[in-house]
Amino acid sequence: MSAVVSPYSRKNPFPAHLTDVRTLTGSDSGKETLHFEVSLAGSELHYEAGDSLGVFPSNDPAGVDEVLGAAGLTGEEAVEGLDGAPATLREVLSRQATLREPSRQLITAIFEKCPDASELEEFVDPEAKSALEDWINGREVIDILLAYPAARFTPAELVKVLRKLQPRLYSVASSPKMHPESVHLTVAVVRYDLHGRKRHGVCSTFLADRAGEGSVPVFIHTAKHFRPPEDASVPVIMVGPGTGIAPFRAFLQEREATGAGGKSWLFFGDRNRATDFLYEGEINRWLESGVLHRLDTAFSRDQAEKIYVQQRMLENAADLWQWLEDGACFYVCGDASRMAKDVDAALHRVVETAGGRSPEDAAAYVADLKKAKRYRKDVY
Ligand SMILES: Cc1cc2nc3c(=O)[nH]c(=O)nc-3n(C[C@H](O)[C@H](O)[C@H](O)COP(=O)(O)OP(=O)(O)OC[C@H]3O[C@@H](n4cnc5c(N)ncnc54)[C@H](O)[C@@H]3O)c2cc1C
Ligand SMILES: NC(=O)c1ccc[n+]([C@@H]2O[C@H](COP(=O)([O-])OP(=O)(O)OC[C@H]3O[C@@H](n4cnc5c(N)ncnc54)[C@H](OP(=O)(O)O)[C@@H]3O)[C@@H](O)[C@H]2O)c1
Repeated sequence: MSAVVSPYSRKNPFPAHLTDVRTLTGSDSGKETLHFEVSLAGSELHYEAGDSLGVFPSNDPAGVDEVLGAAGLTGEEAVEGLDGAPATLREVLSRQATLREPSRQLITAIFEKCPDASELEEFVDPEAKSALEDWINGREVIDILLAYPAARFTPAELVKVLRKLQPRLYSVASSPKMHPESVHLTVAVVRYDLHGRKRHGVCSTFLADRAGEGSVPVFIHTAKHFRPPEDASVPVIMVGPGTGIAPFRAFLQEREATGAGGKSWLFFGDRNRATDFLYEGEINRWLESGVLHRLDTAFSRDQAEKIYVQQRMLENAADLWQWLEDGACFYVCGDASRMAKDVDAALHRVVETAGGRSPEDAAAYVADLKKAKRYRKDVY
């Protein structure tokens, strides 16, 4: 590895360029999951399998125009940006402020400026945090401005009531041993309809729709807790449905690049095999070449009842238990809200049924796996 320290970081992101974009999902899929390749050439940035890439998006220009239109402003107005430096209002709305999550300050300002906004009174109280969160959930800045056209803001007032646009993290889907100057990503594009409007996830649609035209400000987010085992002969069990596959593609590239001898077992799931089997060709080639020893898939919508990765774990409990007893590391990546919890429950069940442990002893066994850093999660 080069001894040169990169000048780029979260505080000073590298203006990277996309060198490749391709759609991983089929045209009939209900999802849009894309593969991106981001060049780090010239940045002196280095990453490891398991890390994430931080991306600073900018907002959709059409969305910026809508907000300006609703506020009766042009965007050319000179303001102090959210970073304290002089900027135009359009620059602030494009790159510095989120137009997705309205702030309490925006609601309070509307309440104060609008005599007919009495229904907002309950949210102005700082104690009413959860009621405000429930009401705001799903609403964007544009929804609030359109709902209260009588509320007029000066450009500086508008900037003051907006929240900072935050970067998003994406699990790195490549190994630096194979791609030292490039980071690959696997991104599910967020688009949905709500409250009668089309909604776009800020960063996933920035990458999908606009990042090809200019630079993409990026940084490396180190994840020391999610590295492949230091000893490459240690077996790995990887559970990564949907975009959770990303770091495991990096792990498998790493095993291919280094000729690591340890066994590997991948559980992958998504909606339909025909359209959503991400990286199917590569995964099958790894199976054939022996880089990947075992693959179990769960395509949730190919049959009447849902089948998820945890069901495959339970069906293969005896083998899974044997791998754990042989010292395997167990990795999970992807959805935190439901999948990771259900996979955790399935792991306990595997230890109970195949390992013949009581629920308490199974919990202690899983806790020991965690303590030994043999149960690692990167969930979001
Ligand atoms: C460590 C880490 C690794 C990650 N790795 C990946 C990865 O490899 N690939 C990947 O795709 N993502 C990954 N993510 C998630 C990623 O960071 C973003 O959160 C994701 O891309 C959405 O960001 P966005 O800006 O496009 O959407 P945002 O503008 O942030 O909008 C997302 C929000 O929209 C709302 N929403 C979404 N869908 C709906 C719906 N159908 N109905 C109503 N509301 C909805 C939800 O409130 C959701 O939180 C990772 C996150 C972390 C923390
Ligand atoms: N707005 C959109 O159109 C849209 C579309 C896809 C994803 N997303 C969002 O994008 C993010 C990433 O999506 P993703 O591709 O990684 O994954 P995902 O689409 O959320 O799910 C991938 C697979 O996991 C299954 N799954 C659902 N619940 C599960 C559970 N409890 N345990 C195990 N598996 C489960 C899904 O099945 P089922 O879906 O059949 O239940 C699907 O087969 C998620 O946060 C998701 O909310 C948004």
